[in-house]
Amino acid sequence: MEKVIPLWERPTLRAAAGDTLRPGGFALTDRAAEAMGMLPGWRVLDVGCGLGATMARLCSRFGAETFGVDSSAEQIARTAMPGTVRARGDRLPFADAAFEAVFCECVLSLLPDPEAGLDEFHRVLGKNGWLALSDLHASGHDACGAGSCAERAVPPTRTRAMVEGAGFEVVALEDHSGLLRDLAARLILAGETGCGGHGRAGLGYHLMLARKRRICHV
Ligand SMILES: C[S@@+](CC[C@H](N)C(=O)[O-])C[C@H]1O[C@@H](n2cnc3c(N)ncnc32)[C@H](O)[C@@H]1O
Repeated sequence: MEKVIPLWERPTLRAAAGDTLRPGGFALTDRAAEAMGMLPGWRVLDVGCGLGATMARLCSRFGAETFGVDSSAEQIARTAMPGTVRARGDRLPFADAAFEAVFCECVLSLLPDPEAGLDEFHRVLGKNGWLALSDLHASGHDACGAGSCAERAVPPTRTRAMVEGAGFEVVALEDHSGLLRDLAARLILAGETGCGGHGRAGLGYHLMLARKRRICHV
């Protein structure tokens, strides 16, 4: 059977989005970092860091000390940033309370077990640590095939429930579906014909900001 190349490894996404493999480029990254009051020296983990663009941005613009994990050997090999390791988002190779902030941009819904991922984000964050999540969401739609970013997208209410269930307090949930429509248009212009999922009805994009509040799982 022919191997399906996931959208985030296709040249069309690089052509449409550059090194930020998601809708909006750095717009939501900067928005989240500013909202949490990121300070120089913060230790920040980017889960599903792709090409390391967010790490470089948070380092150069906010003075953060950045680390990144990605499950793809190809992505890690393309990443120029130091501090990147190959690892799954739901099995983070870091100590408890190691970070002031965790970023997870366009990745949570790709994890086979997002709840296990959120538990890990909670574990590696220090007291009152920040979680910045941006992701695709869906309001009930036909399944899209393997390799689509939207394959396992869920409604934002479901993501919110999972985030709260992992021990976070959601402090902001914003709809940014316009950024998704913009990327969909650029993907078409770049020649993307596969089921990227970005242009389908019922699909949107959001930014969620949350803070670690309590120890979960008694
Ligand atoms: C849409 S891209 C986003 C990359 C990056 N966050 C960005 O915005 O540029 C999704 C990334 O998640 C990674 N990924 C997929 N499943 C993963 C998993 N289970 N654990 C860690 N990373 C994963 C992919 O390899 C890919 O680099």
